[in-house]
Amino acid sequence: MRHALVIAAILAAGAALAESGGKTLNFQVYRAKIEPIFLKKRLNHARCAACHTASASNFHLQPLDPGATAWTEAQSRMNFESVSHLVIPGNPDRSHFLLHPLAPEAGGDDFHGGGHQFESKDDPDWQTIAEWIRAAK
Ligand code: HEC
Repeated sequence: MRHALVIAAILAAGAALAESGGKTLNFQVYRAKIEPIFLKKRLNHARCAACHTASASNFHLQPLDPGATAWTEAQSRMNFESVSHLVIPGNPDRSHFLLHPLAPEAGGDDFHGGGHQFESKDDPDWQTIAEWIRAAK
């Protein structure tokens, strides 16, 4: 029984690695370009961070310190960790993180608790995140 579990875990890890080709996402680019998107007010929408510091989803952001306008490096590392689990490095079009908040008409998921944050893949912020995922080496 225990062996079966270990083997299953190894196979799952192997599959995830094969899918990402062992690529690594760049933390510095994430911190400089991606995180500000989570704090930005989008037309007709609340900020990602307004919901995702509290909501019980797998996209979990750390609460900002009182008065802070950006995350500390340690907080960013935790945010990065959470986001990293939801993307397939090198493959933005198959990354749940980008498909979930995208409008269904544009190829996104049917439902996102935070609405259609991105009306299409042409949204500059969607593009910025896609570029970061694509650039993983
Ligand atoms: C009004 C609140 C709200 C806002 C604003 C919001 N979300 Fe969400 N989001 C939710 C809720 C609630 C869920 C969990 C239910 C669901 O799956 O949609 C969720 C789920 C997600 C998930 C799936 C996580 C998982 O567990 O698989 C992703 C990815 C996501 N949101 C990305 C974003 C991004 C990116 C933004 C900003 C551009 C954003 N959300 C803005 C409420 C919000």
